[in-house]
Amino acid sequence: MALERTLAIIKPDAVAQNAIGAIIATIEHAGLRVIGLRQLRLSQAQAEGFYGVHRERPFFPKLVAFMTSGPCVVIALQGDNAIQRWRELMGPTDSTKAPAGTIRASFGTSIERNAVHGSDAPDTARFELGWMFAGCDLALSAQRE
Ligand code: RTP
Ligand code: MG
Repeated sequence: MALERTLAIIKPDAVAQNAIGAIIATIEHAGLRVIGLRQLRLSQAQAEGFYGVHRERPFFPKLVAFMTSGPCVVIALQGDNAIQRWRELMGPTDSTKAPAGTIRASFGTSIERNAVHGSDAPDTARFELGWMFAGCDLALSAQRE
């Protein structure tokens, strides 16, 4: 199994619910390691650039408005098969269809307000981690492995 890194975001709806600790506990109980973490409020330009692949989609303006509506917590994760494992812990995009026990079932309320983000492939993980973290910070934290 490949040691991977992925980007997780606790979105503004979950931060507003005081769910930061519960979500990080789920991550750590699953054996994924936090190698970078900070809270920030995304600017319009940061959110538009981060979700640039969705620029032409009809939901893009609402997605950017949601992601800039309050603080987020951005987390760099490392572990075996981390990209897929974090996506499984999150559940599907639409919170109303997420299986019980997934983070989106617990803290999301719709397809738009779905509590968390996760990179979906190695190339997007690389781009998204680079958007949010300095490479040297992650390299030094990951030396604990
Ligand atoms: P994410 O990127 O946030 O981890 O979510 P995802 O891969 O499960 O879903 P994606 O297709 O990448 O969509 C990004 C985010 O856009 C919002 N969305 N709204 N109204 C809609 O039909 C719709 N579809 C997507 C969600 O916030 C989704 O997480
Ligand atoms: Mg996505």
